[in-house]
Amino acid sequence: MDAILNALFSSEEEELYVLDCLSYLMMSMASVTFLTLLFVNVPYGRYASSKYGFPVNVKFAWFVQELPAFLVPLSLVLWSSCAKITHLPNQLLLLMFFCHYMQRSLIYPFLIRGGKSTPFISFALAFVFCIYNGYLQARYLSHYAEYSSDWVTHPCFITGSCMWFLGWTINIHSDHILRNLRKPGETGYKIPRGGMFEYVSGANFLGEIVEWAGFALAGHSVHSAAFAVFTVVVLSSRAVAHHKWYLAKFEDYPKSRKVLIPFVF
Ligand SMILES: NC(=O)c1ccc[n+]([C@@H]2O[C@H](COP(=O)([O-])OP(=O)(O)OC[C@H]3O[C@@H](n4cnc5c(N)ncnc54)[C@H](OP(=O)(O)O)[C@@H]3O)[C@@H](O)[C@H]2O)c1
Repeated sequence: MDAILNALFSSEEEELYVLDCLSYLMMSMASVTFLTLLFVNVPYGRYASSKYGFPVNVKFAWFVQELPAFLVPLSLVLWSSCAKITHLPNQLLLLMFFCHYMQRSLIYPFLIRGGKSTPFISFALAFVFCIYNGYLQARYLSHYAEYSSDWVTHPCFITGSCMWFLGWTINIHSDHILRNLRKPGETGYKIPRGGMFEYVSGANFLGEIVEWAGFALAGHSVHSAAFAVFTVVVLSSRAVAHHKWYLAKFEDYPKSRKVLIPFVF
């Protein structure tokens, strides 16, 4: 891994500059995505369409597209010089990222019940994004991020870590509720009940947004903030679309249920 990084960058200053640029580029991509999603829904799941390429088996798609977000950080930590890996704040932040993507790539895909095939373009974009983001977050945290030794006791780190854990738990619990709406072999849709779905239509998305907002607060960097902003843009659009879709499909859909933020929106 070091040989590849040395071939790509002439100095550490240059790589850090590129990591900063990649973060600002991700923020710009989030703005463009926001504008695009005012006119189209993210094309997978219930909004999948053959306009976006041939269908890829849903379990295969989730496994392969998310795997780089686990394998790229793992390769960096195992096979590149990691100047900051012995620092506790860096270790804990990397652990958060690993925990999420270990579950998302190695467990989540194989639990899916009756999911729609993913159009190839959506699959390819997700795959490239996971390489991009896996490198951005893991390389910054393992080799460059500077935190004071008492950063783990700072209110931002403590609050952010608690948010990360709460969000992760809500996300996993909500995905579990959705999965169990279908018996093996079923592919249709039902009204989700229980957990945070009692309050919002996008309970799994709310969990993931809280998770990465917490990661950004604890990480206190433009790199982690860029990922949180991108997540907010994609998942809030999906939550709005799902909410409208449920209201149109189910006459008995709970009227008090909000889109994404309990009691507010
Ligand atoms: N960080 C990010 O930027 C990002 C981006 C995208 C997704 N994610 C995460 O990835 C996970 C999956 O996202 P997603 O967009 O696929 O979520 P989703 O649209 O809620 O679907 C999740 C799964 O549940 C099924 N499902 C959803 N609603 C259902 C209902 N009412 N009745 C029966 N089955 C239902 C879906 O089947 P169908 O396929 O048949 O619809 C799919 O298999 C979430 O945890 C999300 O937070 C993160």
